[in-house]
Order: sequence, then structure tokens, then C-alpha cells
Amino acid sequence: MEKLKITGSRVLSGSVITSGAKNAALPILAATILTEGRTRLFNVPGVVDMITMRKILQNLGVEAKEVEGRRDAVEINIDSLTSLEAPYDLVRKMRASVSVLGPMLAKYGRARVSMPGGCAIGERPIDMHLAAFSKMGAKIEMNHGYVEASAKRLRGAEVCLDYPTVGGTENTICAAVLADGVTVIDNAAREPEIADLAAFLNKAGAKIEGAGTSRIEIEGVASLSGVDYTIMPDRIEAGTYAIVGALCGGEVVVQNCNPGHLTVLLEKLAEAGCYVSATDNSITVRGCKRPRPVNIATHPYPGFPTDLQAQWMALMAFTEGTSIVREAVFERRFMHVPELRRMGAEIRVDGDTAAVTGVERLVGAPVMATDIRASASLFLAGLAAKNTTIISRIYHLRRGYERIEEKLKGLGAAVETVDD
Ligand code: EPZ
Repeated sequence: MEKLKITGSRVLSGSVITSGAKNAALPILAATILTEGRTRLFNVPGVVDMITMRKILQNLGVEAKEVEGRRDAVEINIDSLTSLEAPYDLVRKMRASVSVLGPMLAKYGRARVSMPGGCAIGERPIDMHLAAFSKMGAKIEMNHGYVEASAKRLRGAEVCLDYPTVGGTENTICAAVLADGVTVIDNAAREPEIADLAAFLNKAGAKIEGAGTSRIEIEGVASLSGVDYTIMPDRIEAGTYAIVGALCGGEVVVQNCNPGHLTVLLEKLAEAGCYVSATDNSITVRGCKRPRPVNIATHPYPGFPTDLQAQWMALMAFTEGTSIVREAVFERRFMHVPELRRMGAEIRVDGDTAAVTGVERLVGAPVMATDIRASASLFLAGLAAKNTTIISRIYHLRRGYERIEEKLKGLGAAVETVDD
């Protein structure tokens, strides 16, 4: 089983190029089901979750292959679709597989998708997705762990989401683009990945307005055509490398990113005493000797991203005081805490809140990754800790971070993959 071995306490400097956004590419790849003919997606991240989503499409009979050997480009041809089922053994590997539900229901009037089940960070229900489909006239049944949805033709509806769910907003948009009439989504998620999905669909002929705001209006159209589309940069990967700069810089320049997607993080890094500057497509961060403690609470966009909470906690483990980290989006997203404690971090957890009392130095240790962002938290701590850190179960890391060793080595880190 491969592990990541990191020799810490090195000053890191240089530039790192952000890959395409996993959390935009996944719903967009699923949304190609809505189109006719060929679509080519560019700037697709080379991460395991993309391979899983391609397997989901291939399982439907859809051809999803690399474009002329370019690992960041995928060509999809929907005309070969022969099945409307997403099986448990694939869906359990990646909950985002449920994003094929809306497209299949909208285009073919039927879908059979395994319930995703929970994961390390929470129960992850999809009740709001299903409630929206029902509002649009779909019949929803649960059979042997599968969602079976059907509708002659979905009709436009007023959908008010109980919570600005990212996946729920995306699935509802996809269900609405071919529906009969107009759908309005209130309390919609405002994440940039929603706007990227809408931009892809509008390029394919959809009529979506307001994506990126909490009120989205979709006028159903008869059909969508395949297009070429370039995925937005990954704001969570970019934020993770900005925190590498804060923790281990030297000076780290994160290129090919959109600083406007990371406003709150950049403000918090400056508050912690780091030098932060940005251009329209890059972020520069210089570390400080010991960061100041800064409290955060996670929140739907544009608040502090839950996907950067674990990484922020790694930074706060090195401060000169105590900071409060509140996780208000998921019910169980502190799985990185016991592992950081193994490295000497002083963290007290009480429900959804952690009090992190910084220490001058963490000490490397064998630790275990539990989910994508917890594994990022561990490699951050390992880069700044004394001695060597060995991270096991790094398949979690591979799901969301492309070429992590190469990118970190490019900044001067001593990191390698070891097998044991
Ligand atoms: C997306 O997950 C992201 N994944 C997550 O990133 C991210 O953490 C999350 O949005 C929040 O920003 C992808 O885009 C593939 P939600 P999603 O629906 O859509 C509850 C990563 O590390 N909820 O906004 O599943 C839910 O339990 C991953 O890249 C319901 O109760 O998130 C959670 O507590 C992890 N019922 C909260 O809402 C529903 O029907 C937010 O979930 C739907 C959600």
C-alpha cells in the first residue's frame, strides 16, 4: 500500500500551477448526459474522482476517452448511451456520482442510481435533491438501496432549498434545463463551480440565469448540443498551496487560479501575519515565523470553505496562541484532529468546534488519511514538522490532488511515495 513520506522543516519557495477544478469537472462531466453528440472538456484534473466519473459514464455505455493523448482533456459521445443505472460499487467510491440523477431523469425520463451512503465527514443525505425532482413531477422510489426516479417529462417548478446544497443545486439545474417551462431555485448554492456548470450548459444551448447567486432561473429548452468547454481552476487546490506558502514559505506563487474565489482565505492569511498579494490569475504568499491565531467558521460560499478547514487547522497548530475552528457545514469533519495530535498538536474538540493551541514545532509521525482534505492537512503539517512524517491511505489524497509529489517537489519539498 503506497504511503507519502515527507521530511519536514524545509523552507519552500517557487511557483505551482493549479489544475482544473475537481468539483466543477465532476458535475459538468455528468451533465454531458444532457447533450446530443460529442463534447470535449479541457483542463480536466488528473485525479481519481475523474476516473471514477468516467467509469460511471462508461457503465452507461457512454464513450469517455482522452483527447489525442492529452491527460487533461476528455471526449464524451453520449449517442452510445445504453443504460440508465449507476451501480453501488461505483457510487460508493464517490458520492458525487449522484450528479448523474438529474441529467438522466431530464433527458431520458428515468434513472436508477445507488444511494451514495455516508462517508468520513458525514451522513451526506440527498433528500433535497429528491425533493426538487418530486416538485418537478418525478416519481421517486427507494428499492434495495437504489433511487429509482421516473417522469414522462419534468415540468418547471419553484424550488426553495432548505439549505444551499451544492450538489442539490447542481442536480436541480440539470433536471430543469430540459424541463417543460421555467424553474426557479431559491436559496441556491453560490459556489463558483455552480457558475461553471451553468456556463457549460448555456454554451450547449441551455437558458440559465443567476448562477452564482442564491436565485437561479432556468427556462427549459428542447435539447442541448455537445460543445468544447474548459473547466475553471481548482480554488481548493489553490487555497491549499497558499497555506503551504503561509506555513513553509519562503515565497510561494500559486498560478492559474482565481483569487476572487478565495477572498476570505486571503484575508485570514493576512490576519495571521502572512504577506499576501494577488494578480488576476495568481496568488503570492510569504510565510511568517509564527502565524498569529485566527478564528474561522466554515460557511457556504462566499464564506470560509469547509474544504479548507482541515488545512487551516494545520496552520493554526503552529501559532503563538489559541484559535477557534468551527465546522458548520458537515457534522463530522474533524477526522484529521487525532492524526494532528499524534504529531504533537494541542487541539480540544467540543461538538462542532475545535480550540487549537499552537506549538512552536510539530514532530513528524506515522499518520493516516481519512478523506481528501484531512490528507491535505496531514501533508501540510508534515512539511512544517520536524523529522519525517509517513501518511498512509493516500488514495484519499489521489482523489482530489493531481501530481502532489511533483508539485510539492517543485517548491523544494522532500517528499516521496514509498511502498510497504
Ligand atoms: C460538495 O459536496 C463538494 N463536493 C464537497 O467537496 C464540499 O465540501 C461541499 O459541496 C460543500 O461545499 C463536490 O462538489 C463533488 P452539500 P455536496 O450538498 O454537494 C447537507 C471535497 O473535499 N445536505 O452542499 O455533497 C449535507 O449533509 C468535497 O472536494 C443534506 O442534508 O455538499 C451537508 O451537511 C467534500 N441534504 C451540507 O448539506 C441534501 O440533500 C452541505 O452539503 C444535500 C446536502
